[in-house]
Amino acid sequence: MSPAGEQPIAPYLDAVVAHGFRGSGRFHVPGHKGGPGADPGLRHALGDGALAIDLPQDMRGIDTGPSPTPYERAELLAAEAYGAERTWFLTNGATQGNHALALALAPLGARVVVQRNAHASLVDGLVLSGGLPRFVAPAYDDELGMAHGVTPDALRHALDSGGGRDRARAVFLVSPTYYGMVADVAGCAEVAHAAGVALVVDQAWGPHFGFHPDLPAGALQEGADAVITSTHKIVGSLTQSAMLHVGNGVGPPRIDADRVARAMRLLRTTSPSSLLLASLDAARRQLAVHGEALLHETLAAGRRLRAKLATVEGLQLVGPEQVGRPGVAGWDPLRVVLDVRATGRSGYEVADALRHGYDVQVELATHATVVLVLGITQPEADLVRLGGDVDETVKRLSAPGEREAVVRPVAALRHEVAVSPRDAFLGEAEVVAVDEAVGRISCESIAGYPPGIPALLPGERVTTELIVYLRALTAAGARLHGASDPEFRTVNVLR
Ligand SMILES: Cc1ncc(COP(=O)(O)O)c(C=O)c1O
Repeated sequence: MSPAGEQPIAPYLDAVVAHGFRGSGRFHVPGHKGGPGADPGLRHALGDGALAIDLPQDMRGIDTGPSPTPYERAELLAAEAYGAERTWFLTNGATQGNHALALALAPLGARVVVQRNAHASLVDGLVLSGGLPRFVAPAYDDELGMAHGVTPDALRHALDSGGGRDRARAVFLVSPTYYGMVADVAGCAEVAHAAGVALVVDQAWGPHFGFHPDLPAGALQEGADAVITSTHKIVGSLTQSAMLHVGNGVGPPRIDADRVARAMRLLRTTSPSSLLLASLDAARRQLAVHGEALLHETLAAGRRLRAKLATVEGLQLVGPEQVGRPGVAGWDPLRVVLDVRATGRSGYEVADALRHGYDVQVELATHATVVLVLGITQPEADLVRLGGDVDETVKRLSAPGEREAVVRPVAALRHEVAVSPRDAFLGEAEVVAVDEAVGRISCESIAGYPPGIPALLPGERVTTELIVYLRALTAAGARLHGASDPEFRTVNVLR
């Protein structure tokens, strides 16, 4: 069935609403029975409506019954909106998409090329699948300590550096980055396809790409074969909901959708949340039907915010001027990145002051930057207020020349992969003091959070340089994500 012309419909949302309020006898899960069994505090918080449409899987007329079911139609509509051959709704975030694609494209012992600062969930996917990563370094800005995208040349080199049994089967890249920098996806697709391999782009931060002429194109349109979009991050679906798209790009199909479907069946709970799924259906509708108009307003408000912030002494806006530098082919205007080094304060300090002084919560702070994320609809009044709050905070806090805030960027660290992520994660581990771990093989993945980019992966050797970096990061206020000891006094290494 072609869903053409049906974008204003949200079939899954409509089906759960039609079912949820009709007074059916509920002799099935969940135990709250559409509300009465729920704690009164929860009922008050969520409202009776949310509980009434919290339905289980396999309800006739929603996700079973004559095909296409409302659930199938909802995924078809999402595929149409994103220009995909097939789309899967994800109820465990973009994380689930990375796990599924690792299982589908990087089976036991298969080599894949992976961007070194890929999200931790991709490496976790390789732990599940047993695939072997060959890492390709992103370009990075030494001065700002900011990793960008992988360049086509770097990708070509990584693909060329293994032959025979070591030949890569797929490429996994990230675009945009946490800072909104977009890689040359078209160039990378050309390189990957010339080598006969599929290109996967983790576009978790770009679910809105392609839905307004002033935004970068979606990676599928640039030639990627599979793309993950974290719908909840920007587009307004509920937290934890995301999508995985497989393309029907140029040339022969490079991804077997049946293998992806098989991986999805393995990873999917048998009780996916109907609230999350309905929110994906609704977010797709809003994006496809009204996205351009909504984004138009938000982009205009964002431009006014930038103009205000550009007048604040000590702040430098990071964005369009990066385009054209290595690893940066485009830029997401929904990301507001402030370089705060000239204030003499770190991004952590500025973010703390914004939180304490104005209850302004930012997405990410690093030594050099503060990163703010705008959503598909960001009320102008909020942005006007934000401009004033940042202005006053920086004026109050600035101590120019006091010190330069620099921590060596994670992308600049040298990494040695000694064994596969799977062998290291599942191997016999022992806990040792961090200083005694130098030269040993890590069994864990440790990422400074934010930005969540792993500094150490299972299978990599622990180095003195890495320990110095992670200690500097924790001292500066970052949390260590994934570390068995969040204080970083001990670490799990292979026995
Ligand atoms: C590049 C990238 N991929 C995947 C993820 C995981 O997304 P989710 O939280 O939707 O599972 C993130 C999370 O921040 C990310 O930054």
